[in-house]
Amino acid sequence: MRLPQPEPALHPFHIRRMQPEDLAAVMSIQRVAFRNPWSTELVRRELTHEWSTILLAEEPTPEGSMRLLGFSIFWLVQDELHILNVATAPEHRHRGVARAVLSATLDEARDHRCTVATLEVRRSNEAALNLYRSFGFRAVGIRPNYYVEEGEDAIVMVLDL
Ligand SMILES: CC(C)(COP(=O)(O)OP(=O)(O)OC[C@H]1O[C@@H](n2cnc3c(N)ncnc32)[C@H](O)[C@@H]1OP(=O)(O)O)[C@@H](O)C(=O)NCCC(=O)NCCS
Repeated sequence: MRLPQPEPALHPFHIRRMQPEDLAAVMSIQRVAFRNPWSTELVRRELTHEWSTILLAEEPTPEGSMRLLGFSIFWLVQDELHILNVATAPEHRHRGVARAVLSATLDEARDHRCTVATLEVRRSNEAALNLYRSFGFRAVGIRPNYYVEEGEDAIVMVLDL
C-alpha cells in the first residue's frame, strides 16, 4: 500500500522547530526586528511551554552549515492558533521567508485541528499587515494603546482555518 506523501514545499527554505541551542541566533534577529524585543529569558521560557512552538526557517550556507533567516512564535490552545511573533533577518527580507514560516505555522495549526488563527499587529506595520492579509487574515477589531510605550493601537486579525 502506498503511504500518503507530504506535500512538497513551494519554497527553498528548511523549516524546523527551535531547540535551546538556537537561542543566540533567534535573539540576534529578535533584537534587530522589533522596537521592543523579547528578552532572552522570555524566549527561553517559550521553549518550556507545551502550548508554545517556535518554527525556524533556514538555508544552507556555501560552507555547508545552516543559516537562520527567520522564525515564528505561536501558541496552540484548544482549537485556536495565536501568533505572537513573526520576523525575518533584515538582510533576507523580500525573499518569501515570512510567507514560508507563516504557511508552516498555519499547516501545524490545521494538523492540530485548530479552527481559527488570531494575532495582533501594529497599526503602522504595513509589511506585516500585507503579509497577513495575503493569507486571508481580516481585521476584526482594534486594541487602543496596546503597544503602551509608543501609544500605538493594535489591529486584531483573524483567519478561519
Ligand atoms: C513583516 C516581515 C516578517 C516580512 O518578512 P519577509 O520575509 O520580508 O516577507 P516575505 O518576503 O515573505 O513577504 C510576504 C508578503 O508580505 C508583504 N510584505 C513583506 N514586506 C513588505 C513591505 N516592506 N511592504 C509591504 N508589504 C510587505 C507582501 O505582501 C509580501 O508578498 P509579496 O512579496 O508577494 O509582495 C519582516 O518585514 C519583519 O521581520 N519585520 C519586523 C518584525 C515584524 O514587524 N513582524 C511582524 C509583527 S509580529
